[in-house]
Amino acid sequence: MATAKQQELLELKARLRLGGGEKAIEKQHGNGKQTARERLVKLFDEDSFVETGLFVKHRCQNFGMEKKEAPGEGVVTGYGTIDGRLVYAAAQDFTVIGGSLGEMHAAKIAMAQEAALKAGAPMICINDSGGARIQEGVDALAGYGRIFYNNTMASGVIPQISVIMGPCAGGAVYSPALTDFIFMVKGTGQMFITGPQVVKAVTGEDVTAESLGGSMAHNGTSGCAHFSADTEDECIAQIRQLLSYLPQNNLDPAPVYGCADDLNREDALLNDIVPESPNKPYDMMTVIRTLADNGEVMEYQQYFARNIITAFIRLNGKSVGVIASQPKAMAGCLDINAADKASRFIRTCDSFNIPLLTLEDVPGFLPGTQQERGGIIRHGAKMLYAYSEATVPKVTVITRKAYGGAYIGMCSKHLGADMVFAWPDAEIAVMGADGAANIIFSKEIKAAADPAAKRKEKIAEYQDAMMNPYVAAARGYVDDVILPGETRKRVISAFEALAGKRVDRPKKKHGNIPL
Ligand code: HXC
Repeated sequence: MATAKQQELLELKARLRLGGGEKAIEKQHGNGKQTARERLVKLFDEDSFVETGLFVKHRCQNFGMEKKEAPGEGVVTGYGTIDGRLVYAAAQDFTVIGGSLGEMHAAKIAMAQEAALKAGAPMICINDSGGARIQEGVDALAGYGRIFYNNTMASGVIPQISVIMGPCAGGAVYSPALTDFIFMVKGTGQMFITGPQVVKAVTGEDVTAESLGGSMAHNGTSGCAHFSADTEDECIAQIRQLLSYLPQNNLDPAPVYGCADDLNREDALLNDIVPESPNKPYDMMTVIRTLADNGEVMEYQQYFARNIITAFIRLNGKSVGVIASQPKAMAGCLDINAADKASRFIRTCDSFNIPLLTLEDVPGFLPGTQQERGGIIRHGAKMLYAYSEATVPKVTVITRKAYGGAYIGMCSKHLGADMVFAWPDAEIAVMGADGAANIIFSKEIKAAADPAAKRKEKIAEYQDAMMNPYVAAARGYVDDVILPGETRKRVISAFEALAGKRVDRPKKKHGNIPL
């Protein structure tokens, strides 16, 4: 039998946990959204979520706020387990003053961030908010600043995950932008610096919130988000899946799972996957699925810069980050977006001790004024930097083309790849045979009685001499030329051999990656 004080506590907790109350909850559901607590219950293992800071109150005295109660201060914070591993979280409660962020709301998020950092556990923040609580003015802005600072301090130490399940507008977008992974739900999750009304007022442009800052706007076009889901439940399943690939923090290894898939599995399918004509595409996703344990792949930025694939797989039960050219999209050329996507992914994996597997079939950087003026030099440099800087085990497989700067950039031996394999069809060269012959034999071709025949002859000559993996293998830039079908076992054994890799780097404050 509870005492009166205990009963009072239980009633108070029950009232506060109702957030903005039944009507606001109904409105939230009517808008196709779950409440903060409903989301957390689904995200965490059953009965594991422990809420902290339920009694926190705002201190605002402006515009009638002194009379306004904000249960839980509009954000639910706490910790629990996901697949048995500790995770901290903050979920904004839109039913309480639109999930708007004031001084104490921000303090709750900041305290959860700081606790996660101290415990060395991932931090997840679910965003569903009208932004800075307007009544609180600069106190709200200060709160954002504290969160951004904490995001930056935790960067590269614990995995930080942002989930956009409602509005996330104005400067508020910069907390997600500072984190490692952004998940968005289609139709309800939206991020923008200025909303449709401001856009209309300033530029005269008519745009819906979804097309301005919805899930596909950021997953497909801007590249600001990494995962897209049709529903909140699907999004939660994706987050749980992602965590299975990640360690708790930068000092821990990623979790290791039992592997029932044969480590020596040979896949004859891969022996025929590269078409005879070098201009014909094939699907690199098939290669990745074939190599991965049980064919399981989790793509990162699936809808952005599709000319390069970035994905998590497991090899022998251990997480591996894959960076792969996709010949099916823009012939697998590297461009600004591909370089940005790959660089961010490489650094994310390196931060969290996840080895890198690069699959390369790249004809070069995309030519053109748009790319040059857009800064392909600066963006491409990020990739060189990220690969060179990464100290995790790095294994590269050249499946076909590896031309010029793109050969170097896709984790060549020269950027520190620990092991480089090539398939027999690999062409490791400065450029394609046609282009090369036209340049170095131009005088001979012009002087010939039959220039077309001469050009053909010279292209074939260059092709025979240079367009193969053996010239690079003769220099030791390629460690072995292997049959495509044996790639899984060769790559697994390479990563096993590299498991104890240690690298010392010169002491510095921090590097200066081209941005
Ligand atoms: C205070 C807010 C609020 C805010 C919403 N509310 N946003 N209160 N500050 N920023 C309140 C509403 O007044 C309302 O209160 C309740 O939350 C629910 O909001 P509704 O408008 O009824 O909900 P909905 O129709 O779903 O519209 C959601 C919305 C809209 C699109 C987000 O509320 C909106 O436009 N809000 C303002 C967005 C904004 O401009 N924020 C400032 C951005 S600048 P009642 O009492 O009626 O239930 C910013 C700077 C950050 O954030 C800088 C960081 C560096």
